[in-house]
Amino acid sequence: MEYIFVKYIHFAGLLLLVSTLALEHFLVKPKMSPDEFRTLALVDMIYGVSSLIVLAAGLTLWFVVGKGASFYTANPIFHIKLSLFVLVGLLSVYPTVFFIRNRTSKQILIEVPAKIVMIIRVELLLIFVIPLLAVLMAQGVGRH
Ligand code: HEM
Repeated sequence: MEYIFVKYIHFAGLLLLVSTLALEHFLVKPKMSPDEFRTLALVDMIYGVSSLIVLAAGLTLWFVVGKGASFYTANPIFHIKLSLFVLVGLLSVYPTVFFIRNRTSKQILIEVPAKIVMIIRVELLLIFVIPLLAVLMAQGVGRH
């Protein structure tokens, strides 16, 4: 029962993660005002919280309620999944810092570097790849 509940939390966190990131992609523009950055920073904060929900539920599945830690730890596909998650986290640092910094800017309009949009797109792409690795490893594919 706990297992099913934690799996649901893992999925719910994921839904929030993807929707907030898609919203960021929609909100970000080549030139933005501090007010618009405040909105983006808020969405980005919810994005951060959702990644913590996914992580906490993931760790619980791994070490507490799942199929036993070694079932996952022994699978290289699981390690690739975790590495991609870490990569998404690292990629998100630059946009987060940029949004927070410009919330309080004195300029009326601030230019947004094109790489911010690219980073969000790469994050979205990686988040769409991770579930494929997840379903494989949860079935034991790739275990030795
Ligand atoms: C964006 C990041 C993530 C995505 C998209 C994701 C996606 C998924 C999906 C779709 C499943 C279900 C697989 C299935 O039951 O067939 C799953 C299961 C699982 N996830 Fe994640 N996950 C992410 C991050 C994490 C992290 C960070 C951890 C660990 C720290 C983790 C640990 C697990 C574990 C242990 C399972 C297996 C549960 C089971 O055996 O039923 N996940 N994940």
